[in-house]
Amino acid sequence: MNCLKRLPGRASKSSAVKVAASILNCDFLNLEQEIKAVQTAGIDALHLDVMDGHFVPNLSFGVPLLKSVRKITKLPIITHLMVIRPEEIISQFIDDSDGIIFHIEATKHPLVCLKQIHQARRLAGIALNPNTPVKTIFKYLNQIAEVLVMSVYPGFGGQTFLPQSLARIRSIKKQLAADNPKALIAVDGGVNAKNAPSLIEAGIDILVAGTAIFHTNDYAKAIKKLRCSN
Ligand code: DX5
Ligand code: ZN
Repeated sequence: MNCLKRLPGRASKSSAVKVAASILNCDFLNLEQEIKAVQTAGIDALHLDVMDGHFVPNLSFGVPLLKSVRKITKLPIITHLMVIRPEEIISQFIDDSDGIIFHIEATKHPLVCLKQIHQARRLAGIALNPNTPVKTIFKYLNQIAEVLVMSVYPGFGGQTFLPQSLARIRSIKKQLAADNPKALIAVDGGVNAKNAPSLIEAGIDILVAGTAIFHTNDYAKAIKKLRCSN
């Protein structure tokens, strides 16, 4: 069923939703083709998951991969830092990223992180894990361009969406409306065509998806389904 039919009256909101591709679960042997394929398929941005093996129990990739990706695309690149003490490495990622998202749980110095990102004139975002009270980020909302709500415990692609994320998104969205209506709200983890309609209904601006795009054989169709525009 066309998901717009399940959401009467949401057509204009749905069409505004952006989709970012998390490359964590793409075919790394063919990274260039994968990126060009999602670009051709109409993706809005690339989402690069940087993991340090400490903040999350996994390692992914770092600056050399970011630089390689930067060379082959003009798509916005949003770097999602899942690392402890992001303030120590933001400078290495900033030149080649359009935006940097760090985790509120990972640093005692969020203002230092924000200052570094703002000084480089990049989009600044704060991510929060499923167990972190949403209020933790409220005092920073007027200084950021994006909130990234984790809808899985970070560290791995291909996990199941946590349904309690919806209430968290609604409450952050409400606070953003008061403090910084221009800021965007994104969701990351287990996003798929089934949960996209309720995420859009809850006010999500950006859907981050890995498996729901790269584990299909038609990326354009997958992206359209996520946008509810199929
Ligand atoms: C999880 C990452 C996500 C994840 C998304 O730690 O931050 O970006 O890779 O992948 P899927 O869509 O497969 O959950
Ligand atoms: Zn991510």
